[in-house]
Amino acid sequence: MRRPLVAGNWKMHGTRQSVESLLQGLSQQDWPSDVDVMIAPPALFIQQCRDALTDLPVRLGAQSCAYQAEPGALTGEISPAQLRDAGCEFVLVGHSERRSLFAETDEIVCRKFAAALACGLRPVLCVGETREQRDAQLTAEVVGGQLQVILDTFGVGGLAQGVVAYEPVWAIGTGLTAEPEQAQDVHAMIRARLAMLDDEQAQRVQILYGGSVKADNAEALFSMPDIDGGLVGGASLNADEFGAIVRAAGRA
Ligand code: 13P
Repeated sequence: MRRPLVAGNWKMHGTRQSVESLLQGLSQQDWPSDVDVMIAPPALFIQQCRDALTDLPVRLGAQSCAYQAEPGALTGEISPAQLRDAGCEFVLVGHSERRSLFAETDEIVCRKFAAALACGLRPVLCVGETREQRDAQLTAEVVGGQLQVILDTFGVGGLAQGVVAYEPVWAIGTGLTAEPEQAQDVHAMIRARLAMLDDEQAQRVQILYGGSVKADNAEALFSMPDIDGGLVGGASLNADEFGAIVRAAGRA
């Protein structure tokens, strides 16, 4: 069936020195063979991580990319082709922090998704609702809308070349994890929506949960039938805790 994937999003954390010790900690983990692992460091440290990860079953991802694959006059941006060249296999697109703080619209997210696929990267499409939207019972509409833009362009088959990460905005960095059943409800809704279009492809799509995943709540979350792993922020900055979360995905 679906292979679990646990990804660490380091966000804007780290110095060369702290990255070195985090990598050192990661090199000492016991990695299960039945879970895919990915870390997404700040772009500045991708090279450093690549050099250190050569003997480890840990893949590399980026936290964002430019919306075009071709080189060009986009000051400050990094193209998906450059990320691929640097050794990345994944890239996050549409993280809620990019949407809210950097005004990334669904259209831009869609262009990034396309550019990533064109360069052979697996885009990790992040979707999720705010607290206000959840309270107004708009979760299905908001998450469905964020997915729909990608589905309109690429279909379920195109989406399945990437990964979906459900990250309720109210659970990110707040310590307020969604209850496993609460997260499962949304994951099941996402899969049902995809299955209406193409059931076979829908069963293949990995749907990760993100939002205050920790070593002590990971197994309960990952045991849910439609939760195929996690996108971990804060807890991925601690090698032992991240290792424990990955191993929880192997047990779940
Ligand atoms: P936290 O795990 O720190 O809540 O962050 C989640 C996240 O945004 C991962 O992309």
